[in-house]
Amino acid sequence: MITFELLSPGKYLPATYFQDVATGTERTEIEIGPGDGGFLFESAALAPKTVFVGLEIRRTWAENLIADPKRPPNALVYNQDGRWLCPHLLADESVDAFHLYFPDPWWKKRHHKRRLVTEEFAAALLRCLKPGAGAFVITDVPPLYSAIEEQLIATGLTRVDWTRNTDSPAQSSYERKYRCQGRFLYSGRFEKSR
Ligand SMILES: C[S@@+](CC[C@H](N)C(=O)[O-])C[C@H]1O[C@@H](n2cnc3c(N)ncnc32)[C@H](O)[C@@H]1O
Repeated sequence: MITFELLSPGKYLPATYFQDVATGTERTEIEIGPGDGGFLFESAALAPKTVFVGLEIRRTWAENLIADPKRPPNALVYNQDGRWLCPHLLADESVDAFHLYFPDPWWKKRHHKRRLVTEEFAAALLRCLKPGAGAFVITDVPPLYSAIEEQLIATGLTRVDWTRNTDSPAQSSYERKYRCQGRFLYSGRFEKSR
């Protein structure tokens, strides 16, 4: 549990907070909106020295993941809004990767207020990534991809070509489903300079 009452405004979690919860881990990767945990659980099983933290805004989905007997011990899930938690609680240069997979069903103009990648959120990614680390993004919605790319680059991250190795079992459920349907997916890695 994150004990918010112990935090004073402007004070972040210790840099190794999640690694200390998942003992034996040495790296931290954060997925915003893990959904049914397809990427989170597989990634954690493949990399036992990394703690994979899923921030899921929907309570029942988060509760299901937390209670899932297949959840590896290095996959932690919190019922949290990533758009709030990242700017307010994560320590500077404490994260080895962020994962944003099909982050936003709200890509239409009238839903802009609910978008994940705001200026504040992008600034938090830049602040919290370790030098040389990056944020991975995949979506099937071209205007959403362009908006995310524009915001992350404006914030100071650099786009690096990246597409998932589709032989890897660590893929999100939406990703798997859309690949099976032959849908084109827009993806990129946005790196913090060293
Ligand atoms: C379209 S689903 C994609 C799920 C999963 N990433 C995948 O690719 O299969 C979007 C997910 O993001 C979650 N989500 C949306 N906004 C969020 C936020 N601000 N913080 C945390 N989770 C969020 C939703 O509840 C949902 O689980």
